[in-house]
Amino acid sequence: MIYLCLPILLVLTPGSSNMKLRDVSISGMHLFTALTYLSSTRIFAEATNRPRCKCQPKQSCWPDSHAWSRLNITTNGALLKTVPPGIVCYPGPAYDKEACEKISELSKLHTWISQSPFNVMHAGWNGNPCPPTNGTEANGTCNSLLGDPVYVINVTEPSQVEAGVKFAAKYNVRLIVKNTGHEFLGRSSGAHSLSIWTHNLQSVEFSENFKPESCPQAKPHSAVTVGAGLQWKELVTQAGKHGKLVVTGGNPTVGCIGGFLQGGGHSPISNKYGLAVDQVLEFKLITPAGKYITANECENSDYFWALRGGGGSTFGVVTSATLKTYPTQPMITAVQSFNLTSDKTDIFWEWMAYVHSEIPRLSEAGVMGYSFIFGNANSGQLSWMALLSTVGGDIDKLTELLNPLYANATTSRYENDISWSQNNITFPDYQSFFTAVFQPETVGGTAVLPSRLLDGRALTEDPTLFAATLKKMWSPFVGAYLGHLVGGPGVAQYKNVDMALNPAWRRTYNHFIAASGFDTEDVKDVVVNNARNVLEYNLRKLAPETGQYLNEALYNSEGWQQANWGENYPRLYSFKNEIDPNGVLYCFNCVGSERWVESYNGTLCRASWAS
Ligand SMILES: Cc1cc2nc3c(=O)[nH]c(=O)nc-3n(C[C@H](O)[C@H](O)[C@H](O)COP(=O)(O)OP(=O)(O)OC[C@H]3O[C@@H](n4cnc5c(N)ncnc54)[C@H](O)[C@@H]3O)c2cc1C
Ligand SMILES: *[C@@H]1O[C@H](CO)[C@@H](O)[C@H](O)[C@H]1NC(C)=O
Ligand SMILES: *[C@@H]1O[C@H](CO)[C@@H](O)[C@H](O)[C@H]1NC(C)=O
Ligand SMILES: *[C@@H]1O[C@H](CO)[C@@H](O)[C@H](O)[C@H]1NC(C)=O
Ligand SMILES: *[C@@H]1O[C@H](CO)[C@@H](O)[C@H](O)[C@H]1NC(C)=O
Ligand SMILES: *[C@@H]1O[C@H](CO)[C@@H](O)[C@H](O)[C@H]1NC(C)=O
Ligand SMILES: *[C@@H]1O[C@H](CO)[C@@H](O)[C@H](O)[C@H]1NC(C)=O
Ligand SMILES: *[C@@H]1O[C@H](CO)[C@@H](O)[C@H](O)[C@H]1NC(C)=O
Ligand SMILES: *[C@@H]1O[C@H](CO)[C@@H](O)[C@H](O)[C@H]1NC(C)=O
Repeated sequence: MIYLCLPILLVLTPGSSNMKLRDVSISGMHLFTALTYLSSTRIFAEATNRPRCKCQPKQSCWPDSHAWSRLNITTNGALLKTVPPGIVCYPGPAYDKEACEKISELSKLHTWISQSPFNVMHAGWNGNPCPPTNGTEANGTCNSLLGDPVYVINVTEPSQVEAGVKFAAKYNVRLIVKNTGHEFLGRSSGAHSLSIWTHNLQSVEFSENFKPESCPQAKPHSAVTVGAGLQWKELVTQAGKHGKLVVTGGNPTVGCIGGFLQGGGHSPISNKYGLAVDQVLEFKLITPAGKYITANECENSDYFWALRGGGGSTFGVVTSATLKTYPTQPMITAVQSFNLTSDKTDIFWEWMAYVHSEIPRLSEAGVMGYSFIFGNANSGQLSWMALLSTVGGDIDKLTELLNPLYANATTSRYENDISWSQNNITFPDYQSFFTAVFQPETVGGTAVLPSRLLDGRALTEDPTLFAATLKKMWSPFVGAYLGHLVGGPGVAQYKNVDMALNPAWRRTYNHFIAASGFDTEDVKDVVVNNARNVLEYNLRKLAPETGQYLNEALYNSEGWQQANWGENYPRLYSFKNEIDPNGVLYCFNCVGSERWVESYNGTLCRASWAS
């Protein structure tokens, strides 16, 4: 099926003149940044005799077993050596048919992966070592960790993180951080690395009048301080007991304050309350220099600035964070569905452009949620389905806001081709809404997520272009178009707060993903090429001056620095080099990562211009 689309790929290869123009404007900024900071003498001065590549096992620089034992002692015995769970499926002493069947089932569950020391959900980026084979003895051996870490520290207190960070810095060993492993770009795994595993930092503490440390003038806020390992399902339950609501992600197993929060964190209720990152009052973290610090608006405010949207695994290892809480609210929720009932697909895309042009109006009126455009591979039928909510209010108000859509669907232009249905339910509080709507998921291949933040202009100005873009991008590569109606007034209200978050978020109404993915290595390149040259390319033409959400964006997205952080990138880059000149923390497409080159074989070396 995938080969059906090859003609499109050929037309849009990176050499074509349009692509070139776009490349120049986006990467021009990257070049500027590099030149500005490279010319700083301090960086040159330090560059003299540091190693160019991170150490790997079997190299003489790799710490010997005594060094690892000492690390184990310093961390109170919390050091684990990585053994892929799939090993029980491979020929050899570990083979165990029953255990293999069991692990084959478990390793598909997000709940299991999110609590494992090193397994991740989108394993296609780390080579997926030793996949379980469901009982059958595998052909071949399980002798490589590929992108999995070599050692993991099972952290239960900040001093163990400190020991890990200092060890990695001293021995020049790659350091990674794993929380739940939801990462879409492979940032919570890494070849030849030592991993800080945060799952067992599970503390939760509610306060009615929290004040950040050293901030006597701060206004007290109702808040909760959570450990780095907590997941939304648990925090929602705890908050429910206190009659509180927290600005959560839309998923039970995502971590509350790891990559999600540090990258921005959109929520089913951010239309009213802002993004998760807008809720942070304070972080506690271990810096890349191995120091345990508190960061808030009064103390280490540069870290506080960077951690609010600059991305995970870059500015330190966060051990806890304090988030605002609010009194819980009823959630008015409706499911809307519109289907194409004829074969006139042009009518459907035109209809979709109209529906999307209504999103800014709905969003300004407090309507939030998620929308999905998907097709039936057999019948060719196209559908739009949306879960829409308001925080508080009532169903009559929501129905009234949606009435123009129904009215339009019954005009002569659409009534013969578009059918619709609706359903609704009112939840008495946030916890019951969250529990009913968001269920733990299972692994379905490695996601490839070209995306764009769509502002009011992109959604309303040119419906013809909008319809043509959706039509043009639609192909067997695309599983669905995912619309996240998670921007709007609640997010815009924080636009004057200075933080690292991509400023484009403040005018976003729809974080739009053209979702694709791959199951097996052999189709990876063709899927990624389509995602770059067709999907990302066309999404950017729809909204050239916005950006994208760094946690849900294309792997190796073109000009990712500008796309992820906009005008905040130069300051982020400079801060990263200041606090972590030796790249103790590195992750893919993260701030400052252009100074490093990661090879397929797992070698991680400084870029030649940054040596
Ligand atoms: C099913 C699913 C649903 C999702 N839903 C949403 C959603 O509703 N809203 C949304 O905004 N995003 C959502 N995401 C995307 C999510 O924000 C990212 O996957 C995010 O990276 C997850 O962070 P994590 O800490 O849970 O995962 P991990 O994969 O463990 O970590 C992600 C990154 O953060 C780093 N990191 C983790 N913990 C720390 C720490 N304590 N200190 C420093 N660095 C750390 C890791 O090194 C890695 O780089 C979803 C993803 C999935 C797979
Ligand atoms: C670390 O120490 C603990 C407790 O002594 C031990 O069980 C564990 O195997 C050690 N880890 C490694 C990697 O040697
Ligand atoms: C494993 O095999 C069993 C029996 O054939 C099957 O029912 C199950 O769905 C398989 N599980 C996985 C994860 O493939
Ligand atoms: C191993 O190879 C044999 C013979 O080609 C095949 O029947 C079997 O299914 C393979 N096993 C796995 C787990 O792929
Ligand atoms: C991690 O540490 C916790 C707390 O000491 C312990 O309960 C748990 O079993 C450990 N996990 C692993 C995989 O060793
Ligand atoms: C909610 O349900 C009622 C009763 O079925 C219906 O009249 C109303 O239009 C629905 N509203 C929405 C927004 O789905
Ligand atoms: C239907 O949508 C079109 C835009 O596509 C708009 O011009 C028209 O006024 C709408 N009609 C109704 C009845 O809402
Ligand atoms: C539209 O199609 C979807 C998926 O096929 C189906 O679940 C839904 O009920 C349909 N809705 C309408 C209004 O026909
Ligand atoms: C890994 O790849 C890099 C770049 O291609 C190469 O320089 C290096 O020698 C390789 N290392 C190993 C151990 O194969």
